[in-house]
Amino acid sequence: MKNTIVTIIFISGMLLNAQNKLNETLNLMPWPNDITQNSSNFLINSSVTISIHGNDQGRVRNAAVNFLRRLADRTGVFIDEGFPISNTNGTIVISFDSVSDLSINTDESYELTVNDKNIQLHAKTDVGILRGLETLLQLTSNNATAYYFPGVTIKDAPRFVWRGLMIDVSRHFHPVDVIKRNLRAMASVKMNVFHWHLTDDQGFRAESKVYPKLHELASDGLFYTQDQIKDIVNYAANLGIRVIPEFDVPGHATAFLTAYPELGSKKDTQYVIERNSGIFDPTLNPTIDDTYVFLDKLFTEMAALFPDAYFHIGGDENEGKHWDENEDIQAFMVANNLETNHDLQTYFNIKLEKILKKSEKNLMGWDEIMTPNMPTTAVIHAWRGERQGLPKGGALISAAKAGYNTVLSNGFYIDLMYAVEDHYNNEPIGDIQLTTEERARILGGEATMWSELVTPRTIDSRIWPRTAAIAERLWSKKEVNDVENMKLRLKDISYKLEELGITHIKNKDAILRGMTNNQDITALVDLSKICEPLKTYTRNEGGTEYKTYSPFTLFADACGTDAEDAFVFNKLVHQLTENVSNESLTPIVEYLKKWASNYAEFEKINNNPKVNALKPLSLNVSKASRLLLKSLQTKELSNEDRKDLNTSIKSLKEPCMDVELVIITSLEKLSQFSNKND
Ligand code: ACM
Repeated sequence: MKNTIVTIIFISGMLLNAQNKLNETLNLMPWPNDITQNSSNFLINSSVTISIHGNDQGRVRNAAVNFLRRLADRTGVFIDEGFPISNTNGTIVISFDSVSDLSINTDESYELTVNDKNIQLHAKTDVGILRGLETLLQLTSNNATAYYFPGVTIKDAPRFVWRGLMIDVSRHFHPVDVIKRNLRAMASVKMNVFHWHLTDDQGFRAESKVYPKLHELASDGLFYTQDQIKDIVNYAANLGIRVIPEFDVPGHATAFLTAYPELGSKKDTQYVIERNSGIFDPTLNPTIDDTYVFLDKLFTEMAALFPDAYFHIGGDENEGKHWDENEDIQAFMVANNLETNHDLQTYFNIKLEKILKKSEKNLMGWDEIMTPNMPTTAVIHAWRGERQGLPKGGALISAAKAGYNTVLSNGFYIDLMYAVEDHYNNEPIGDIQLTTEERARILGGEATMWSELVTPRTIDSRIWPRTAAIAERLWSKKEVNDVENMKLRLKDISYKLEELGITHIKNKDAILRGMTNNQDITALVDLSKICEPLKTYTRNEGGTEYKTYSPFTLFADACGTDAEDAFVFNKLVHQLTENVSNESLTPIVEYLKKWASNYAEFEKINNNPKVNALKPLSLNVSKASRLLLKSLQTKELSNEDRKDLNTSIKSLKEPCMDVELVIITSLEKLSQFSNKND
């Protein structure tokens, strides 16, 4: 009865509205393949129950339990039983045909129908059900008196089979809880591959019982035990996520060689784990049998921990300096007709491929492994593209055309701190013409979270929410590409990630509280909404400013990409200066007033060195805002004031404490605009 009343209330206004502005009324991400709305609504009340019809209910039951928990918490509805007491259908009926073994062939499609009486979710596999339950949860809507699922029919399936997130746990270690919360967030946006970058120059992070010196000597004691690895792999599998380990060889090998220097290419060297960032010379020696005996035993041990069919061997950025310097290696190359270091690395990779085959693993590596003699059984992880001088489509398209399966990360480097739209617009294929076979070799993509500049406190804010937009790029149709609309939906998706334990929002204030010794942080919060950390690797020029144990609780760590006030302000200024729309003037003035008083607020904080370093930023933001206000409001500015304004804008162009002010262009536009109108 309640359902019917609610339905009647909703029918009139909502249906029309929803059909006209479908994308804006539903905060779905990734946007589904096919969606039609109907006029009914399913009321979320205490009698919501879920019945499950399928063979093995392990993975689905776990998802249904989590669904009920999240639904109750999100809505405040006191769900009574959750599952039907007797053997009857629930109000939410889940059915699936088979249990997936989690592979690149897993069918993740689902069909979801919501009407006023019940909800049907059907999928070919249990993993499809997981994807559908996330969609249903994202549909949760409310008015002043009730929560409901809007009536829809959704038929959905991913565009790409590989939708991953790589987390580098070598540069900075990220404990089990960090990984688990990110797995939950990944599942909430239907991502299905966790690529675990376990070794690099800065640390070896997996317990090895065969070669224990690896984790004992090359991790500062920060590593995953084998039980923890198994636990994470199981946890991911329950969420329909495959786990691909990466053991980066033959370069990026300082941690390996810290433990086993005898395998290095430079003789009589004591290697120590690296504290800086960058590309380093320590490299495994590919010409000695011991290296292969070692890798055979180690990879066989590690392969047993990771049930997935793919195993990543890195292979990137080996400049071969220690190979060039080693006479024995040079002699070996001559004796074996290996002309270049690329040939030697291919020789090494082919041996690894054979080793991995014994454990039934497919070798995957960064795109440097794609050399003329590399067998096409390898999977090419394309991290370089046109920006690195490669032909159109970058390594991804070259690999697909050369016969390799391939995964894209070029353009999905979230550690570079680019705006969300950069990643969202990173269409993998675009207008490039491919044969059916070539297209089929493009498996998908991965966001890459390199961890030189992140700790467990900040990593979430670098991954999320932008990775949700990448998830949509990889799941949804190419035509789903409206940036403004994506940003609207992302706002909602972003804060809902908190429900899964993601700390990207709350840790910002925590860092600022830490900076100020728990004083009023308003002045800093306001600045953080118009500042972004320096992009690309300019924050850590040369890789030596920040080391393993540098602080990552500075102002730059509290700032993120897509600074929210800057985004709105820049848009308003554009409107004002291009169209002379007086409507934008009022909110612009409000922003300027707020910023004009920033320094007065800032001064109230009992400063310390961390905060003091921001003084010039606060001072100049205040000064520029005050003078712009004056010129906009009084329509006149003395020559001296104008000079002062120009000087403070000029100062603001200089980065301060590794952040850049991202309203500079707008301040300049306003200055010119007010000058014209003086
Ligand atoms: C890489 O960024 N070196 C794969």
